[in-house]
Amino acid sequence: MLQDTFGRVHDYLRISLTDHCNFRCAYCMPVEEMEWMPQSKLMSKEEILALAQVFIGLGVKKIRLTGGEPLARKEFSWILEHLAQLGVELTLTTNGVLIHKHIEQLKAVGVRSVNVSCDTLNAEKFKKLTRRDQFDQVWENINLLLREGFRVKVNAVALHGLIEEEICDFVQMTQNLPLHVRFIEFMPFQGNHWSSNQVVTARELLELVKAKFEVVKLEDKKHDTAKKYKVPGFEGTFAFITTMSEHFCGSCNRLRLTADGKIKNCLFGKEELDLLQALRNGEDIEPIIRQSVTRKHAALGGQFSPDYLQANPDAIQNRSMIKIGG
Ligand code: GTP
Ligand code: 5AD
Ligand code: SF4
Repeated sequence: MLQDTFGRVHDYLRISLTDHCNFRCAYCMPVEEMEWMPQSKLMSKEEILALAQVFIGLGVKKIRLTGGEPLARKEFSWILEHLAQLGVELTLTTNGVLIHKHIEQLKAVGVRSVNVSCDTLNAEKFKKLTRRDQFDQVWENINLLLREGFRVKVNAVALHGLIEEEICDFVQMTQNLPLHVRFIEFMPFQGNHWSSNQVVTARELLELVKAKFEVVKLEDKKHDTAKKYKVPGFEGTFAFITTMSEHFCGSCNRLRLTADGKIKNCLFGKEELDLLQALRNGEDIEPIIRQSVTRKHAALGGQFSPDYLQANPDAIQNRSMIKIGG
């Protein structure tokens, strides 16, 4: 069992398969400064499997594949097939554009739920945001996932100037589609030009929704990142991921493995321990994982007030989102 000094048990591992992505969203990727990881530094498919097995031996029950874009990794099918044999809940967070190429395998190996990032419902705005003209393909694939019986969460980063106009359209969409839309407060990462006045908080967003819809609060589960709501009678739900305005670190059960094989005990923690190098050296991985868990802070989410940033000017030196995997 991987228990930290605050009693939190860590049984959810997010594995980034690649730092590459076929989209170019500026909030995630510092386009001007982006340097891809060299192939030799990335975990091979066998190394991913070997490290996953160690984590599972230590009590991990759920693995989420992330990126960059996980489906952009050429060996995705091999990795999925082999991880699926390890008896954990497997899932992924994707931009959705390649889902149609993998849908049969996702079904076959027992993936039940997929999170798809989509920040706008307007094809022109989508093109501007992602620098790719792929809205129709993503939307088709979201519908394909629903038709095939997957539980689908749509992740929309709440981007100031965009979300205010669209939030009610997103909620309206849940009337006839069993989609779970989650609005994510904009978070700071290296190179993403974040500033606190660009954060639209869940409270502000909820007010916008309430101006148009009747809303009920749903019960959240212990480890949920999102606070869930519903319009009575609608098929789907909507929710807010409130990292900036109300962090949820107290119930955190998540560890991260970056594509270059470093364990991160927190999305906002700068400390990384090199599991891949240790594996290549033939060292025992387990004590390094335990060390990382032991060193986890009580809470690093939501500390980015202007005052905090002034006192801690290097606080946003954390890797960019595309290199962590969200
Ligand atoms: P579920 O397992 O379906 O609840 O998904 P998830 O919310 O764990 O994962 P997803 O990849 O869909 O992430 C959605 C958003 O939540 C992203 O912006 C993540 O960065 C954020 N998120 C996920 N895990 C954490 C976390 O441990 N801490 C913080 N602060 N944010 C997180
Ligand atoms: N703030 C909030 N969410 C982000 N994501 C990527 N960058 C950010 C950011 N700066 C989201 C993606 C994806 C998830 C893994 O994280 O849109 O849905
Ligand atoms: Fe967990 Fe860190 Fe996210 Fe808090 S900020 S929920 S401790 S990963």
